[in-house]
Amino acid sequence: MSVESRASALLGALQKRGTHRQMRVMACAQSTRMSVDGREVLLFAGSNYLDLAHHPEVVEAAVAATREFGCAAGGSRLINGNFEIHEALESELAEFLGTEAALAFSTGYMANVGVIPALADRGDLVISDALSHASIIDGCRLSRAAVRIFPHGDLDCLEKVLRETASTRGEVLVVVDGVYSMDGDVAPLAELVPLAKRWGATVLVDDAHGTGTLGATGRGSSELCGVGRDVDVVLGTLGKSLGSFGAFVAGSRALRDLLVNTARSFIFSCALAPPQVAAARAALEVMRREPWRRERLSQNADRLRNGLAQRGISTAPSTTHILPVIVGDNDATMKLCERLLENGIYAQGIRHPSVPEGTARLRITPMATHRSSEIDHLVDLLAKELLG
Ligand SMILES: Cc1ncc(COP(=O)(O)O)c(C=O)c1O
Repeated sequence: MSVESRASALLGALQKRGTHRQMRVMACAQSTRMSVDGREVLLFAGSNYLDLAHHPEVVEAAVAATREFGCAAGGSRLINGNFEIHEALESELAEFLGTEAALAFSTGYMANVGVIPALADRGDLVISDALSHASIIDGCRLSRAAVRIFPHGDLDCLEKVLRETASTRGEVLVVVDGVYSMDGDVAPLAELVPLAKRWGATVLVDDAHGTGTLGATGRGSSELCGVGRDVDVVLGTLGKSLGSFGAFVAGSRALRDLLVNTARSFIFSCALAPPQVAAARAALEVMRREPWRRERLSQNADRLRNGLAQRGISTAPSTTHILPVIVGDNDATMKLCERLLENGIYAQGIRHPSVPEGTARLRITPMATHRSSEIDHLVDLLAKELLG
């Protein structure tokens, strides 16, 4: 079959199901107001939650690193791409999270497909939540370990699987998202972590959306749930609240050494470029120095949640800065997204396979720097569109 006929068959099926996707074009720096497909809009569709991607200190750090080290690391960390600033970033991340060590990866996706196979192999078992991020699912597949999935957030089922597999000879790894990226709920870590430990399992929390945004000091979902010290492995991203690009895995020194020696997505890939590393370091510093960003993000999310609730529009099960408004039908969701765009608001419509079939939704993500009036404007517009 030619590429053209394959594309036409597969893409035709996506069109029919209403899940064909197209990229939108942004034409300025990421902030609360942006140019999207040539329209000036208020952005409620990003992961630059703390508005650090274009912060002057972050930009200056990237520019200075570019001047000093150039635009590229020029190779993998194990050959010629390991700069002092990579090591410095990792020490700072470890110090921030209170772990012995951290290791940077080029993306969160690559971190998951690197760390899960490093911790579970043939003969081992990975247990994960039904709504785990695609990169966790792909990491599980690559690991060649047996995989068991428990219904979303269902700790009784998790315990059942742990009990049933207690005699497994290999290692048991429990992997969950800290914050579910399409629903905005937080994993029940206060109960899940001790439960997994009781059964001798290792716990990996993917805190892509929690790092920098949750917990009293921004250490994420495990800090929020009071289990900061008990999670064996934390994965965070640098490309969301930390305004740069890349990711990291934090834990023990032994874990770091294991990943350096066995994580294929770390070993066989180019290191993060110096400007990205420098930007992440600067953003980490600003985030720690300016807790108002985290507080304001949470206030904005609450204002949006409460404003919509008062109009009878649910954002359940969200308790964070990711708020879903579930529409259900794919076409209706994308039409709603278009109507908001025409009225100057960009909140992305999300369809299968990012979310289960029949649960298409608007995924709304406020930022720390949205004004209250902008949040209220979104509430009014959404209520008008949904309730008439
Ligand atoms: C929970 C989760 N893990 C991992 C990733 C991947 O991170 P990255 O975009 O850095 O590849 C994402 C991205 O949205 C995510 O939501």
